Amino acid sequence: MSQQHSAAPAPNSAVSAVEGRPDWWRDAVIYQVYPRSFADGNGDGMGDLEGVRTRLPYLRDLGVDAVWLSPFYASPQADAGYDVADYRAVDPMFGTLLDADALIREAHALGLRIIVDLVPNHSSDQYEWFKRALAEGPGSPSRDRYHFRPGKGKNGELPPNDWESIFGGPAWTRVTEPDGTPGEWYLHLFAPEQPDFNWEHPAVGDEFRSILRFWLDMGVDGFRIDVAHGMVKAEGLPDLGDHEQLTLLGNDVMPFFDQDGVHDIYREWRLVLDEYSGDRIFVAEAWTPTVERTANYVRPDELHQAFNFQYLATHWDAAELRTVVNRTLDAMRPVGAPATWVLSNHDVTRHATRFANPAGLGTQIRLAGDREVGLRRARAATLLMLALPGSAYVYQGEELGLPDVVDLPDEVRQDPAYFRGAGQDGFRDGCRVPIPWTRTGPSYGFGDGGSWLPQPADWGGLSVEAQTGEPGSTLELYRAALAVRRERADLGAGDAVEWLRAPEGVLAFRRGEFVCVANTTGESVPMPAYGRVLLASGEITEAAGEAKVPADTTVWWSAS
Ligand code: NOJ
Repeated sequence: MSQQHSAAPAPNSAVSAVEGRPDWWRDAVIYQVYPRSFADGNGDGMGDLEGVRTRLPYLRDLGVDAVWLSPFYASPQADAGYDVADYRAVDPMFGTLLDADALIREAHALGLRIIVDLVPNHSSDQYEWFKRALAEGPGSPSRDRYHFRPGKGKNGELPPNDWESIFGGPAWTRVTEPDGTPGEWYLHLFAPEQPDFNWEHPAVGDEFRSILRFWLDMGVDGFRIDVAHGMVKAEGLPDLGDHEQLTLLGNDVMPFFDQDGVHDIYREWRLVLDEYSGDRIFVAEAWTPTVERTANYVRPDELHQAFNFQYLATHWDAAELRTVVNRTLDAMRPVGAPATWVLSNHDVTRHATRFANPAGLGTQIRLAGDREVGLRRARAATLLMLALPGSAYVYQGEELGLPDVVDLPDEVRQDPAYFRGAGQDGFRDGCRVPIPWTRTGPSYGFGDGGSWLPQPADWGGLSVEAQTGEPGSTLELYRAALAVRRERADLGAGDAVEWLRAPEGVLAFRRGEFVCVANTTGESVPMPAYGRVLLASGEITEAAGEAKVPADTTVWWSAS
């Protein structure tokens, strides 16, 4: 693994900052770039930082405020970079630290902020500390930085407890000791190549505060914290017992997830971040049982935002959506944090496919479904999301209305969850297929070469080129929506909505002069015309003060 520390651009107070409101993040629209699938600068079939840099003007013109980059650090890629072997180096497949520096500077010059991913729950098994822990053997202090335990059973042949990996199979792997004998086991909540750190060990905290500073000195505007709910494990690593782990996940506090101790870590991190100028932020990837527990992560002295996975998991159903919106706003208000809204990311079925699937199928399972219905609902869901108070996340390609690719052949699959059986995060390659930029050409403009996952034959028709300037295209809908959101303070601001009376299956709310109506039913519904139509995800007809809102359509009105 390359060590690039010496090549790091000097910590640079001259890194340009982005001018703007100090609380820019409270209503920011943040675009997730999954670097391997966004744009390929060197034509090797794999996206890279150079590719991202050259596409920054596209993101500026789209109208987003910030870009969150999934990991691009040195990594053996056992979990697409969420297995980090060197937290201060860029993997050669993505470029160099100089490319990262250029990317941050250019983004800032365009008024875009950069948020990087931080992976503190686990390292790669190729991280220096883990290699040393294996080499130095049982009882060595280097083992204390991870969770090594003797096995159960007569000869230690059984795992130390009954926890399962999120990717399937036991959460423990037995090592062969330096003398060649079968030895201790180590904990990995994800793949065996991702050993969990022991956050009780002070060196772990010291190391991560130093990593934070490294990237803050590079000029990043914030961090998305991977598995932010996982670092602290319950004392003694207790068995789950009779409970079925899969049914508990996401519904209960687990001995390895959402333990109260994680909050001490965030209070320390916040002190580090606040030493830096420029209104930088933390956002938590914390899968908690309730939005009320999510709110604990964004108390005033902890993190700034946390992804709203309860919203992501909600079906296209007015009553369910209204409940989750109310609950979210009610949970965030007391801690003074903005709500966040997210529909897609690199771990779940893209919402254009999810909303075509029968309700109850969950966020991981992919069926082709009716694409037309899925896209109609996805567009309507996006306008609804962008009308809510708080910050919104957009996953690359959703602005093109991309569906999940549901028919990838087994031999091209890379998601470790695919190979370990159905876990929480199953079969994620389908939302990671490189995105199309042009109608034709090698990999539809993703790069000059191929594409690390095959793109479907109809990708060109969904490309940026095909949709640009095309009235009614999903890309133009996103551009228009983000332009309206920039012009009008009343969309993302505040912490409440005023619900209006609406027929069953329809959501209607007012925020000052602004009214949003979302029809989640399969039928057109009559609604009062609330003023001037600002934008709609489908065709609205108005007559005599009444508007017909078609099936699966959202409309924005301005009363003035
Ligand atoms: C959450 C990330 O989003 C996912 O892609 C990854 O596999 C796990 N955390 C483990 O790091």
